[in-house]
Amino acid sequence: MEKFIISGGSSLSGRLRVKGAKNSILPILAASLLTSERVELKDVPDISDVKVMLNILECLGVKVSREKDILLLEPGSLYTSEIPESLMCEMRSSIFLMGPLLGRLGKVKVSYPGGCDIGPRPIDLHLKGLISMGVNIKEENGCVQAEARSLKGSNVHLDFPSVGATENIMMAAIYARGTTTIHNAAKEPEIIDLQNFLNKMGAKIKGAGTDTIKIEGVKSLGKVSYTLIPDRILAGTMIIAAAITRGELMLENVIPEHLEAVSSKLREAGVEIWEEGDVLHVKGRKINAVQSVRTLPYPGFPTDMQAQTMTLLTLARGTSVITENVFDGRFSHVGELKKMGADIMVDGRSAVIQGVKQLHGAVVKAPDLRAGAALVLAGLAAEGHTIVEEIHHIDRGYEKFEETLRGLGANIKRVGIPAEV
Ligand code: UD1
Repeated sequence: MEKFIISGGSSLSGRLRVKGAKNSILPILAASLLTSERVELKDVPDISDVKVMLNILECLGVKVSREKDILLLEPGSLYTSEIPESLMCEMRSSIFLMGPLLGRLGKVKVSYPGGCDIGPRPIDLHLKGLISMGVNIKEENGCVQAEARSLKGSNVHLDFPSVGATENIMMAAIYARGTTTIHNAAKEPEIIDLQNFLNKMGAKIKGAGTDTIKIEGVKSLGKVSYTLIPDRILAGTMIIAAAITRGELMLENVIPEHLEAVSSKLREAGVEIWEEGDVLHVKGRKINAVQSVRTLPYPGFPTDMQAQTMTLLTLARGTSVITENVFDGRFSHVGELKKMGADIMVDGRSAVIQGVKQLHGAVVKAPDLRAGAALVLAGLAAEGHTIVEEIHHIDRGYEKFEETLRGLGANIKRVGIPAEV
């Protein structure tokens, strides 16, 4: 198994162009199944979650080719509506293959999805939405079998603005008879990206980015060429990399508005951040504690930035409190950060972080994608050597993370035998 070895203490400096968003490309790849024509996607990150999704698409009959950051898909006619269990289990996002496969083939069989181990991640909201559109669902031996002779437009009210459920229902509604309205929809920028991608192929969707999305059913979708929005979580992680090493970075291809909640909290912590068009400048200074960071659905503070922010606050002057409101049990990084000298106490959904002067190197395990990135950030700032194990979690969402960081002055290397994807 591969690991990172980090020798802490170097300040990061330089410029980095941020690539397309992981949380856009995954639903957009699923949505590509809704057309039989050619799909061209630009600025696609080379991460393992994309590889797993492409393996699934190939099993379903899609021809895939890749030229650097450009992906070409030829969905043609699909062979099957059954997703192999081994691939499904590797990634939670495979659940939103249900919507497009129901739309295209009228049936789908999936096993319960895998992905990050960040507490229970049920799929009841996805299933409730699909049932209200006329889908019959059978759950047996860890498999979900769904069938619909014809999908019908419906009023779907989500109990919680789930990102995945919003996207799944949007995709299922494309070929439904009539109009589907999603109330209390998630408002994340990646949902607007999905809407723009589908509309460019001929879909009729309005309202993404607000809490009400309307999808008018259409008969067919055509070909498309589409560029993904930049990855706001990668940009946020790099802001913290600059801040924690007291470095200075220029992040290019950023939509600053997407990072508003993160930037304003980090400014509160003393990080200098300023915008110039689609470039974000970051300069690290002494870190101050922040009284309250509360994760919430967009436009609130993203849960996907919680672990990295906690790492930064371990080195702040004073006491900070972070409350995780989106997922249960998303504090798996706490124990690992403590091994590096952090002073953190968890009480239910909140973590109280008492800043320390210095973290020290240790052997730690990446428990999930963002927690893994947070441990790498801790290693960049720590005194001595840090070994981060189980880095396949980090590879799910960060393209060659060590090369990116090394290009900016970090002392980090990858050792060991690569995992197969
Ligand atoms: C997406 C993102 C993930 C991010 C999360 C929250 C992708 C590929 N992944 O995940 O990076 O952390 O949004 O911003 O875009 N829930 C239910 N029932 C359901 C569905 C969700 O109870 O049927 C709950 C979940 O357990 C969780 C909350 O709703 O507590 C949010 O989950 P959701 O927004 O669905 O996250 P994902 O789409 O899985």
